[in-house]
Amino acid sequence: MTEHTEQTESCGFEPKIMAFVCNWCTYAGADLAGTSRMEYRPNVRIIKLPCTGRIDPLFIIKAFENGADGVLVSGCHPGDCHYTTGNYHARRRWIGFKNLMEFTGIDMRRLHFSWVSASEAIKWVDLINGITDEIKKIGPFMEYKGLKEKASL
Ligand code: FES
Repeated sequence: MTEHTEQTESCGFEPKIMAFVCNWCTYAGADLAGTSRMEYRPNVRIIKLPCTGRIDPLFIIKAFENGADGVLVSGCHPGDCHYTTGNYHARRRWIGFKNLMEFTGIDMRRLHFSWVSASEAIKWVDLINGITDEIKKIGPFMEYKGLKEKASL
């Protein structure tokens, strides 16, 4: 355990996780978790979009800019997209974007991509709990604030 990790855990750091999810699968899976009264970490803020194909990489940058400590993109499993191929486009875009983020020095443990169907409430719960625990260990996302401060000098 690093000094930084010990500090963030002892300070009671609660990460903010932005989840961009598609309406037809992952949102329905998260909704099923709620209506089934499953408990999971309250750190996630869900933004529902029609399809993962609608997710612009700028949404992710904006999320970090506005204080997110981690980002999740999740939609229908391959072959199940309501709009046939939206999730394939999202996956391709994600791979390119992830490499770019890695190049800029962002810890890849802050970015997650997953498939969660409307019936996978348990998977949703495990995913959110896992991401929350992982980001708690690495601490708050401060890099963007540092870049913004440097840019304004
Ligand atoms: S509708 Fe779910 S990923 Fe396209």
